[in-house]
Order: sequence, then structure tokens, then C-alpha cells
Amino acid sequence: MKIAFIGHGYVGLVTAAVFADLGNSVWVVGRTKSKIDNLKKGIMPFFEPGLEEMVKRNTLSGRLKFTLNYQEAVSESKVIFICVGTPSKQNGEADLSAVFKSSEEIGRNLKNYALIVTKSTVPVGTNRQVAKVIKKIVAGKVPFDIASCPEFLREGSAISDTLNPDRIVIGFDSIKAKTILLDLHKPIDGERINTTIESAEMIKYASNALLANKISFANAMSFICDAVGADVEDVLNGVGLDKRLGRMFLYAGVGFGGSCFPKDVKALIAIAKSKKYDFDLLKAVNLINDDARKRFVEKVDRTLSGVKGKTLAVWGLAFKPNTDDMREAPSIDIIRLLQAKGAKIKAFDPVAVDNAAKVITDVTFTGSPAEAAAGAHAVLLLTEWNEFKQLDLREIKKVMKTPYLFDGRNIYDPAQVKSMGFVYKGVGRE
Ligand SMILES: NC(=O)c1ccc[n+]([C@@H]2O[C@H](COP(=O)([O-])OP(=O)(O)OC[C@H]3O[C@@H](n4cnc5c(N)ncnc54)[C@H](O)[C@@H]3O)[C@@H](O)[C@H]2O)c1
Repeated sequence: MKIAFIGHGYVGLVTAAVFADLGNSVWVVGRTKSKIDNLKKGIMPFFEPGLEEMVKRNTLSGRLKFTLNYQEAVSESKVIFICVGTPSKQNGEADLSAVFKSSEEIGRNLKNYALIVTKSTVPVGTNRQVAKVIKKIVAGKVPFDIASCPEFLREGSAISDTLNPDRIVIGFDSIKAKTILLDLHKPIDGERINTTIESAEMIKYASNALLANKISFANAMSFICDAVGADVEDVLNGVGLDKRLGRMFLYAGVGFGGSCFPKDVKALIAIAKSKKYDFDLLKAVNLINDDARKRFVEKVDRTLSGVKGKTLAVWGLAFKPNTDDMREAPSIDIIRLLQAKGAKIKAFDPVAVDNAAKVITDVTFTGSPAEAAAGAHAVLLLTEWNEFKQLDLREIKKVMKTPYLFDGRNIYDPAQVKSMGFVYKGVGRE
């Protein structure tokens, strides 16, 4: 099938590459010349495991093409996916300007029937507005349908998530739209949820809000566990073995970040407010999330009897492992809070250093965990990259000034780390 993707971010580029790999003929439309030129040369705009190879393979085969020109992509595509960003506005609402701008461009360049599908996360009613924008421009001259197909991929495992999703949500109001999308997704496994456009739009927000709830619940439990001397990991294991609950996403740590949870939680609060519902539960989720970072900083400051003038090694900067995405990463807040208290920061991340350098200043970036730890008063683990799990901590201890390890993701066994001579502080456990 001939398809087009508007936007080459995590969602647009990954989904485009996967659909090209499945044999479709795919256009990707961008708005920045240098990025499109780079993509044509096989240079990725961000790090995602396996993406570069997949993009190169499909570009070479001619199935995947990049352009700045809506006309060549839109005029020959049967399905057009809108995958542009929907960041937060100051008031927490989703900024839909890119969605509507790309809808106008689609409308202006529509020559034959096409199905226009929104993959971006958008509030209920947005797809109908997209239809209005396009209708006004095509003025009845070209038939089209709209559909909502929200995306659930996770950065770091985006390709396998796209090929093996838990579910594919299709919101439609015409049988033709439903048939086209079911056909396009045929090679991909996963439950199909065929529903209305409004419900599809809401499913995405409800999913992210509930996942954020689980994380904040785990973090709130970690605050209490710290206070009463319980081990939050044992507590969450005990809770998670209840089949009604499950352990997935009950993670205690320094809080969630990234380009989705923070903005989607805020957007759902704003959607609720616009309908006169005060979503207190979600407001608490955000407060707990902020608190998780602050409490971690306080714990470091308290344990070290003040961080002023001390050197702290930060391991992991990206908001989660296997990505270089720094959007709303907990490391940003934590580093800034520690710097405000007078700490000097040395940091290491396997892939996110270039992006980190754009958002945090006065940090010495290093080429390895050991280099970051050299001469440091403490190591603070903020992102659970695999490479930190099997490090020889005895060797790390030798190069440190004082052996403090603050495990912001609870990846280490406290007893084992303590037996090496470290003072170990996890989140909700010691
Ligand atoms: N990143 C994720 O893990 C993820 C997962 C599921 C859903 N989503 C949602 O998908 C959407 C996109 O997220 P993302 O992470 O891919 O965003 P992103 O910021 O990585 O990419 C957005 C892309 O849109 C492009 N763009 C913006 N305006 C444009 C225009 N007028 N014409 C052409 N291109 C334009 C940008 O250049 C960029 O390539 C958001 O709504 C997000 O909430 C993201």
C-alpha cells in the first residue's frame, strides 16, 4: 500500500520504517531540510536501537523515501498518518498547532481519495477538527476519511513494540476507513480494538495516565517505606504477585519523565477541567512525581552532610535506558537541584550526552562510569542502563573519594553492594 507519514520523530520514523519493511511504499514528510537530507544519507535524528539499519535497508530498496514536499507524498498516498508532536502548552493543554498545520498541508495537496489517520496523541475532538480543516480546503472536490490510530510504542524498544503491539486501536466512522486500516495492519499481531474516534483518542490518554499512576503509587510507597524501614522492592513484589494487580510498571525510583507521560497527564487534567471535572487523582500523580526527585536530592544531601563543594558522579542522563531522549528527564531536575546546593557534577550516559549538554550546564561529561566516579564523593544512578548492572563496583569504589552509592532505580542488591564497603541508599530501601 502507498502510505505517508507526516513527522519523522520517534513515532513517525519508526512506524514508517516498519511499514516499509513490511513491503509498503512509504513517504516520510519533514519540515527541516538538514534532517531530511541526513535521513536520505542514513543519518538518524535520534538514537533508537535497530532503527538505522532498518531505515537504510528500506531506503536502499526504494520503499522508504523522505521529502520536504507534501505534494509528492500526499498526492500518491492512500493512507496518510499524522505523527507530529503535541507538546504541552503553558496551561497544560496539548499544543495542536503542528497537527492543524499538517492537516492544512494535507488538504492543499490531496488529489485522490485518502484516509487521514492521526497517530499523534490528541484530545477528544481533534480528529473531527482535522476533518473540518481538510474539508474546508478540499471543498468537496476530493473524497477523504479520517481515523484515529493512537500509538503505544515505547522509546528504546520502538521497533519491536510496533511489530508486536499489545493492541492496535482503530477509531473510525466509516467502514472503508476501518477496512483499510485492518488491511494495512494485517502482518502485525495484537488485539484489535475497533471503536469510535472519540474512544480511540481517549484510550491513549487513559493508558498513559494509568501507567503514570502506577509509577507514582510505587514512589509514594517508597516514601513510606523509607520512613518505616520497609523494603519497597519486597513490598512491590508482594503486591505484584497478586494477579489482579501485576508487577509491571510498579517501579519505585526518581520518577517518570520523557515526552509522553508528563504532557499526557497534564493534558488529561486540562481535558477534564474543560468539562468541569477536577481530576485530583492525576494532580496527585504529578505532585508525587516532582516529590520523588526532590526527596532523592534531600537524601543525598542529608547522607553526605551537605553536598556543597562535593563532587557527585551521575550515571545515566536519558529519561530511560536505550534512548538519547532528554525530554523531561529526571536527571535534569536532580542535577539542577544539586548544583543549586553547591555540588559539582560529573556525568556519564552511553548515548544521551549530546542532548544532555543542550539542557544542563556546568557538568563535566565523561566517557565511562569509572571516569565519572573518579574522585567523586558519591555515585548517583539515575537511569537503569544495562551496562550499569554488571559493573565491577569494587573497581569503581577504588577510584572514588568516598564510597556512597545512591541507586535511583533500585537496580542493585543492597546487601551485595554494602558487602563491598559502600554506603548504599536506594529508593524506599537501604
Ligand atoms: N515518543 C513516544 O514514545 C510516543 C509514543 C506514543 C505516542 N507518541 C505521540 O506521538 C506524537 C509524536 O511524538 P514523537 O515522540 O514522535 O515526537 P517528536 O517530537 O519526536 O517528533 C515530532 C515530529 O513532527 C515533525 N513536525 C512538526 N510539525 C510538522 C509539520 N508541520 N510538518 C511536518 N513535520 C512536522 C517534527 O519535525 C518531528 O519530526 C506525540 O503526540 C506523542 O505524544 C509518542
